[in-house]
Amino acid sequence: MGKSALGLDIGSSSIKIAELQRTGYSIRLKQYGVYPIPFGTLENGEIKDPQLIADQIRRVLNDLKIKTKGAVIAVAGQTVLVRHIKFPIMAKEELDSGIRFEAERYIPYPIEDACFAYEVINEDAGNNEMEVMIVAAQRQLIESHVQCLKLAGIQPLAVDVQPFALVRALGLTKTQHNKTMAVLDIGAGTSDLVIYRSGSPRFTRIIPIAGNRLTQAVANEFKKSVQEAEKLKIKLGNPLTEEASTDEARVSKAISPVLDELIVEVRRSLDYYRLQQRGDEVDQIVICGGGARLKGCETYFTRELGMRVTKGNPLNLLTVDPSDELFDTAPVLSVGIGLALREVE
Ligand SMILES: Nc1ncnc2c1ncn2[C@@H]1O[C@H](COP(=O)(O)OP(=O)(O)OP(=O)(O)O)[C@@H](O)[C@H]1O
Ligand SMILES: [Mg+2]
Repeated sequence: MGKSALGLDIGSSSIKIAELQRTGYSIRLKQYGVYPIPFGTLENGEIKDPQLIADQIRRVLNDLKIKTKGAVIAVAGQTVLVRHIKFPIMAKEELDSGIRFEAERYIPYPIEDACFAYEVINEDAGNNEMEVMIVAAQRQLIESHVQCLKLAGIQPLAVDVQPFALVRALGLTKTQHNKTMAVLDIGAGTSDLVIYRSGSPRFTRIIPIAGNRLTQAVANEFKKSVQEAEKLKIKLGNPLTEEASTDEARVSKAISPVLDELIVEVRRSLDYYRLQQRGDEVDQIVICGGGARLKGCETYFTRELGMRVTKGNPLNLLTVDPSDELFDTAPVLSVGIGLALREVE
């Protein structure tokens, strides 16, 4: 038996679980699942009712007959702060206090309540410059996740951040030398944009426009409940639909302005990045997350952004039992797979 680990992605709309097992050089996706959770269980990334989620996780483990006990989790949400900051090259001790000082400037709550971590992304000796990525989250938020795992009888192996999990899952560290790629994870509450250069994250932005906003737009148009609107969106939504007066066209007319808003924000971020990075252009955007399953999404983004947009595939690095269901679910599993990969890679 090889080493195995769970990746647990507790999103605002669902729990995603991936179990990976390593045997020799191959890594197998042993088990996976996506389970909805009630709206409002997570608030800005914090688990409001750890017992409820823990019970759900226990059921999931039971359903999928998972025996692996160690899991990697990730924190996310609008209060998780990711900043890329340039420093002159300095020793670790000096950097530690530099980071604390910088973090204090950005964190909107007392620094005593924050957990932060950083990683040196790039060193440029010629310009005496190093690029550091700082991640900060409220201690309370992280504790809510850890407590939930304990209640579920799971051993927390590590707490990661979503951008790193994504880059691992989509294999961007290994194959994309000298390329600049962006990943857009379209979730329920937020769409997270990360720009990678040669496999390292260089820019991160959390955009508060995602699946929930699309659903809300459909609910408003049809004067229906959010639950019903959600079904309509998934069944009929397609921003490429053009013929008028069908329900399909109505759904699409409702969601298109929201998608356009998201696209404006993405474009703004790409422009900002280009200015910051002395003209470095993003070559391609990879979309993932539940929102990327919207019909026509890839083509619409390609057309509106005028650049290459593809759907991310976190299965490339894995051995899997192929099925239509798996291929359809794959984009949603990206974060979960990336988390488990951290332990078995
Ligand atoms: N087939 C589909 N077509 C359109 N939208 C879909 C489809 N499947 C799922 N979604 C949408 O994807 C969103 C959920 O995506 P995901 O599971 O990645 O979010 P999350 O991780 O729970 O949320 P967040 O990352 O914001 O915390 C929901 O808004 C849902 O409506
Ligand atoms: Mg998510």
